[in-house]
Amino acid sequence: MNAWPAGNNQALPFADWMRAVQLRTEASLSRLLPPAEAIPARLHQAMRYASLDGGKRIRPLLAFAAGELNNGSPERLEIVACAVEMIHAYSLVHDDLPCMDDDILRRGRPTCHVEYDESTALLVGDSLQALAFELLARAESGTESGNESARDAGRTARQLEMIRLLAHASGSCGMAGGQAIDLGATGQSLNLPELELMHALKTGALIRAAVMLGALCGDALSDEAGAALDRFAKRAGLLFQVVDDILDCTASTATLGKTAGKDAEAGKPTYVSLLGLQAAREFADDLSAQALAALAFFGDRSQRLIELTHFITHRKF
Ligand code: IPE
Ligand code: IPE
Ligand code: MG
Ligand code: MG
Ligand code: MG
Repeated sequence: MNAWPAGNNQALPFADWMRAVQLRTEASLSRLLPPAEAIPARLHQAMRYASLDGGKRIRPLLAFAAGELNNGSPERLEIVACAVEMIHAYSLVHDDLPCMDDDILRRGRPTCHVEYDESTALLVGDSLQALAFELLARAESGTESGNESARDAGRTARQLEMIRLLAHASGSCGMAGGQAIDLGATGQSLNLPELELMHALKTGALIRAAVMLGALCGDALSDEAGAALDRFAKRAGLLFQVVDDILDCTASTATLGKTAGKDAEAGKPTYVSLLGLQAAREFADDLSAQALAALAFFGDRSQRLIELTHFITHRKF
């Protein structure tokens, strides 16, 4: 189904597995978003514009990779992957607004408010966020085990946990809070713990949620395994934003598909502005090593998460 390869996915080369998850995510998002012609058509078209046909789909990849640790069902993983990606797409639409980073280019195309207008872009964010939670509340993202009533109770508890986790990661103690710190810190300098907190919230929280939601699609993890996965997710989330900071000042606009050099121009505190490029790269390598060390607990079962950690560390866009 949905270009998902049959058989043992673990045998696939990483590039093929990544492509398969990206294709599946694209097809699922297209199916789960309202049709472009449904009223209000302009809003639905803009939601599809902001979500489809672009992006690396790192959060869905992390959800699927975490799901492979504990036999997560692809059908459930697809739902949680889309829910997290919708929150992410919403965060990008709002991040690009004139009142935030004021960007005109995203994923190689005009930003949502440029292609449509500012009020539509606001509503795209609102609507993608609501749809993400609606998806998690649908029955198919739950779990199935045991007899019928135990199964139903387990399913409800698991879904509530998913909703709580994503809501916390998105709100004022997660992504939105990190964005508030980012805006407040523009033109100011932060010390290292302050910068780490900002990055952990604005970007790390959703990355962590992607991993933990993926794991919630499979068999229950032991406390020790859950703690190891959480350690991984936190390091990987911070790593992702440190590399974003580095790429902002080392990659081209054409490669990134978003305007390069914006952080320095806007006076954003970043790991590069605080530490310098070389030390920021070394910090990224340290975080990568810490993330991989946390995965050692899982052995071969974390193959995809290991591969994704290398990808995140060495990505070029
Ligand atoms: C960009 O995220 C914004 C950050 C949180 C750093 P991504 O680099 O994941 O953007 P896409 O989804 O691939 O476009
Ligand atoms: C964005 O951070 C974080 C969120 C969208 C939550 P940035 O502002 O650095 O992301 P880019 O560089 O515009 O993608
Ligand atoms: Mg920003
Ligand atoms: Mg930005
Ligand atoms: Mg950036």
